[in-house]
Amino acid sequence: MGSRRRVNVDTLNVELGTRSYPILIDAGLIGRAEVFRQHLPARDVLVLSNTTVAPLYLPALAASLGGRRIVEVILPDGEAHKTLASAARVLDVLVANRFGRDCAVLALGGGVVGDLAGFAAACYQRGVAFAQVPTTLLAQVDSAVGGKTGVNHPGGKNLIGAFHQPVLVVSDTATLATLPERELRAGLAEVIKYGLICDAALFAWLEEHLDELLARDGAALAHVIRRSCEIKAAVVGRDEREQGERALLNLGHTFGHALESATGYEEWLHGEAVGAGLSMAAAMSRECGLLTGAEAGRIVRLLERAGLPTRIASVTPAAALEHMRIDKKVLGGRLRLVLLRGIGTAYLTADYPPAALERTLAAHCG
Ligand code: NAD
Ligand code: GLY
Repeated sequence: MGSRRRVNVDTLNVELGTRSYPILIDAGLIGRAEVFRQHLPARDVLVLSNTTVAPLYLPALAASLGGRRIVEVILPDGEAHKTLASAARVLDVLVANRFGRDCAVLALGGGVVGDLAGFAAACYQRGVAFAQVPTTLLAQVDSAVGGKTGVNHPGGKNLIGAFHQPVLVVSDTATLATLPERELRAGLAEVIKYGLICDAALFAWLEEHLDELLARDGAALAHVIRRSCEIKAAVVGRDEREQGERALLNLGHTFGHALESATGYEEWLHGEAVGAGLSMAAAMSRECGLLTGAEAGRIVRLLERAGLPTRIASVTPAAALEHMRIDKKVLGGRLRLVLLRGIGTAYLTADYPPAALERTLAAHCG
């Protein structure tokens, strides 16, 4: 498999003992064969991608994977294909090609392809190696890291899944050049989320450099991808299975998921729903006297500048509340929410006045 020259790339590690893995971040990584030679030993590799991403990046990736047996599965684009049927198709191809336990499944694409590839890898022969080559900002800052994999069920999103960590994450920042504008903005919601949860300096940096990010400045994008991955890697390293701290990564998501589900997942991208959810989490924290008006104002202004929604007209407060009650964070009948004690300090609580939630929903829905 060629020379063993070490790869000189910005790398950080998710520390999980024997399951630790590197995240490599740089422009042009897909075309660097030595990255895959060094970090992905499998000789049999199934590449899962979709009809949008594969024509753009699969030829270069296949060249970098040269010398191995490569089998491609190219799915139609879209969340609608993140299903058990698609996972079964991947498993069928693995079986048909007699891939053994030493094979790898590699995801080339956004979170849809990543979640699906990871789930198939978790199931095949009780778990084979899995690599992520994320090509959306959302996947590079969030979904490719941390080992949550899964598919949707008609009864709900991500209802079927497994924790299965990748062995490698290769974030080629150059792929973001072809990402539709709306997808880029949706990914920024997750970056803003990290600042709000635990990094006031990142939040302030975003206030100052948002225009560079929107203009897709390479250095600015690499900076937020690295910082986001550092934060997520540290949280996952401490709480892989979401027994505690990892729930903070869901800031804005309890509101956002409710809005997505109330609108049948058709009105907004996930990141857009998270944007509105962050605005609602900020308003709720203000209602509870935890956040100042000035802080809540800074949050809404940054979301607006990023082109993200901060409220929803098509869902009533009652419908939003009903959808929030089926959230995974309901415990003992009490809905837990991630709230802010300030920009950069999030915490999970079920201890808030129900009227504060009602006022928040009334102000942001309908
Ligand atoms: P996505 O995978 O649907 O990608 C968004 C769109 O961008 C698609 O049309 C895709 O084909 C296209 N695309 C991808 N890369 C491109 C590129 N470089 N150039 C041009 N087009 C490109 O959506 P997403 O936002 O990346 O991911 C959303 C999914 O991630 C959801 O299913 C969500 O549940 C999941 N998710 C998982 C986690 C996790 O921790 N596992 C976290 C957050 C979200
Ligand atoms: N996206 C939230 C998590 O990975 O936990």
